[in-house]
Amino acid sequence: MEILEPSLLQYAEEHTSPEDQLLYSINRDTHAKVMMPRMLSGHLQGKVLAMISHMVKPKSILEIGTYTGYSAICLAAGLQDGGKLITLDINEELESMVRNNIQHAGLTDKIDYRIGNALEIIKTINETFDLVFIDADKENYNKYYDLVFDKVTLGGFLLADNVLWSGKVLDAKPDKDTRAIKAFNKKVQDDPRVENVLLPIRDGIMLVRKTSL
Ligand SMILES: C[S@@+](CC[C@H](N)C(=O)[O-])C[C@H]1O[C@@H](n2cnc3c(N)ncnc32)[C@H](O)[C@@H]1O
Repeated sequence: MEILEPSLLQYAEEHTSPEDQLLYSINRDTHAKVMMPRMLSGHLQGKVLAMISHMVKPKSILEIGTYTGYSAICLAAGLQDGGKLITLDINEELESMVRNNIQHAGLTDKIDYRIGNALEIIKTINETFDLVFIDADKENYNKYYDLVFDKVTLGGFLLADNVLWSGKVLDAKPDKDTRAIKAFNKKVQDDPRVENVLLPIRDGIMLVRKTSL
């Protein structure tokens, strides 16, 4: 189920600044060469991520789930001078494509791309982040939230993608991934340390602000 009717999505995209040439190429190449291209954020969501990053002006960003690097490049747009984005992905088969995309974006010195299981890598990171984007395996969303929470600066933001899960969050008999997404949404909603808004953009983005430790 599409959250927004395709013609309205098209209208929204037509009234959104055009996709940068490089992002357009990454989007096209991902659709041509990579499995499950629907995972890529795409034009509208990419602009939303870039806008949020420009508004937050983060010094440090953590992304969980690089895929082909599209969202990492969008998020890096708002980094402060000298800022860094760490992006994690378990899929080593995409390494050369991702490194190539980061290089073409001129972001080699800003994007630290690490390959491995994010559940393990996050435990080894001793840094704090002004912005975190959770966009990896759905069944671990709650674990990612718990693992990163203390690493988010007070007043910092977390984003989590696919929180409407193609509308399946309303299913009477939800499958495993849907149950995980629903549990994540409830966890955030019940967390007194944050304020949050579920943005019905593309497949749903949970936007969370850390208001207390
Ligand atoms: C939805 S895609 C990310 C899309 C990307 N953020 C974008 O918008 O273009 C999810 C990615 O999470 C990665 N992933 C899944 N489980 C993971 C894990 N345990 N650790 C790190 N990455 C994982 C997958 O390999 C996949 O590339």
